[in-house]
Amino acid sequence: MKLVASISQGLEKEGAKELIQLGAKSVKASRRHILFEADMACLYRLHLRARVSFRFLREISRFPCHGPNELYIGVQRAIDWGNWLQPEKSFRVDVTGFGEGLSHTHFTALKVKNAIVDLQRERMGSRSSIDVKNPDICFHLHLANNQAVLSVDGCNSSLHKRGYRPAVGIAPIKETLAAGLIRMTEWDGTKNLVDPLCGSGTFLIEAVSSLLGFASGMDRKFLFKNWPDFDFSIWDKEFKMAQKMKILNKKLPKIIGCEFDENIANSARENIRKAGLENYIEIINCPFQEFQLPTGLGLLVCNPPYGKRIGEENKLPNLYKQLGQYCKQQASGWDLWLLNGNPELSKYLGMKANRRFQVNNGSIDCRWLNYKIK
Ligand SMILES: C[S@@+](CC[C@H](N)C(=O)[O-])C[C@H]1O[C@@H](n2cnc3c(N)ncnc32)[C@H](O)[C@@H]1O
Repeated sequence: MKLVASISQGLEKEGAKELIQLGAKSVKASRRHILFEADMACLYRLHLRARVSFRFLREISRFPCHGPNELYIGVQRAIDWGNWLQPEKSFRVDVTGFGEGLSHTHFTALKVKNAIVDLQRERMGSRSSIDVKNPDICFHLHLANNQAVLSVDGCNSSLHKRGYRPAVGIAPIKETLAAGLIRMTEWDGTKNLVDPLCGSGTFLIEAVSSLLGFASGMDRKFLFKNWPDFDFSIWDKEFKMAQKMKILNKKLPKIIGCEFDENIANSARENIRKAGLENYIEIINCPFQEFQLPTGLGLLVCNPPYGKRIGEENKLPNLYKQLGQYCKQQASGWDLWLLNGNPELSKYLGMKANRRFQVNNGSIDCRWLNYKIK
């Protein structure tokens, strides 16, 4: 099967590595997506275990499209609709991209929907209903270069929603982005890991879950179970394998989050408990300036406020200055990884980054900066 993974800008390389580790073939990373091939076992495995991609689409048809009429006919001819969509099943159509006479995604989605339900009425005497929130099957149409690609989405919602984070602090980072950034640090569980401005604890939860082989999608409702070629025995095998991957009772170094807001610190603790990691991650409720780092070496990872979402910009230079001083006084020999969306602010750290990677945090152009603290 041909598939495409959606991914945040800047994480394509890490996302591609993860797909290859989980068995994907012919993997080609492009801007914000990765093309690859997979069999059913791999497709189920990716949905259960991948952490960096936030959506997997399986291509089911591709046809030329020069306008609304060609789209309508192309959709009707694309697949055996009787096989893919019985009238008692609901569906939703998502659209990306544009084509001739198809410059509004909402209009394009309506056109696709009409093509499907008109054909159902004609051939089966009744039609499926639309369910935007909770469909049985989710079709995706991508338009580009006078080509339409019709796909099915394996899941109803973005895979960044792992379910452990009902409580979020201010400006939380998406789980998929945190997972990708943590992979880039190459933290392997042999050194301490500290987030001095941890908010809802996402970096730490993603780091430890991944290290301990916790699959990200065990409790998720997947739409591929409604596809006509869903294979329960393959699914069952992959699910059991994902369960077995979980490492229990591993001795880990100190993994600590520091958060000065009491409510947010409590939310982080709640998220950690939900993720089943309360024996591994500790949250300290105090300003990082007062927090004594554990002995030994380690990694500091953080996403301090950068003024575009939270925090008043004029207060922030001091915060960055204090973080820089803290690192130099307390964390000699440690690594600092800092997600920064404002280059003016990172200057106040008073340190020179060894490596920098461009990534997008939502719509914010950021840098994932690595400092070797002297
Ligand atoms: C951008 S948020 C971090 C978001 C986090 N990565 C997440 O996913 O939720 C920055 C956090 O730093 C906290 N913070 C700000 N100044 C702090 C300080 N001096 N010490 C500890 N925490 C601080 C804020 O309360 C906020 O929760």
